[in-house]
Amino acid sequence: MTQLRDINIAPSILSADFANLGRDVQTVLDAGARVIHVDVMDGHFVPNITIGPLVVKALEPLVHGAGALFDVHLMIEHPERYVEDFAAAGADVIVVHQEACVHLHRVLAQIREAGAAAGVSLNPGTPVATLGDVRDSCDLVLIMSVNPGFGGQSFIPGSLEKVARAREFLPEHVALEVDGGVTELNVRELVDAGANLLVAGSSVFGGPDVESRFQALQQAATA
Ligand code: DX5
Ligand code: ZN
Repeated sequence: MTQLRDINIAPSILSADFANLGRDVQTVLDAGARVIHVDVMDGHFVPNITIGPLVVKALEPLVHGAGALFDVHLMIEHPERYVEDFAAAGADVIVVHQEACVHLHRVLAQIREAGAAAGVSLNPGTPVATLGDVRDSCDLVLIMSVNPGFGGQSFIPGSLEKVARAREFLPEHVALEVDGGVTELNVRELVDAGANLLVAGSSVFGGPDVESRFQALQQAATA
């Protein structure tokens, strides 16, 4: 079974072909993907609106059938209202934004109680030190390397150093994920800086031959 601390490229289905979503997810699973990243947006916390628990539920048999993990990134206000729904739909990891949670510690406990691993995400403008009082209450930290809301944006350069600082700051068992602008050009240095989960949307789904695009990234990450 895939472990959260393994080094993995996590294809983000935000950049997949929504008219052929099941096909695209199956393609990356067949190529070896063991973490599938889902971007949930509400039009409030971020400007964009995407998908909800129904889509996670529909894809769940494919993802779990391949022994992969479902990584659900909630870019929404009041994420506590949806934790149980996403857990029931099949989310293995539920990531909430620090900036969206007045009671972050409580939401992380709620996620674990619902049976999922608990993740906290930080926007580019939110310092790592803000995790100080929850680093023992979470299983994963996600560093946003773009401002959340859209795929296909450029990696914010200072994020590499932020990843290194986060790794130093976090207990060894906490997984470290990076999201936004991950490509074949920066994936290796991100792993060297301590990231182990690398979300990749447009660099996987943004062109022909999704399978070899995924495999090239996975190879660069694990080589
Ligand atoms: C952005 C999302 C990302 C997005 C990444 O708000 O959280 O997961 O899909 O897309 P790329 O890899 O294209 O930057
Ligand atoms: Zn994401």
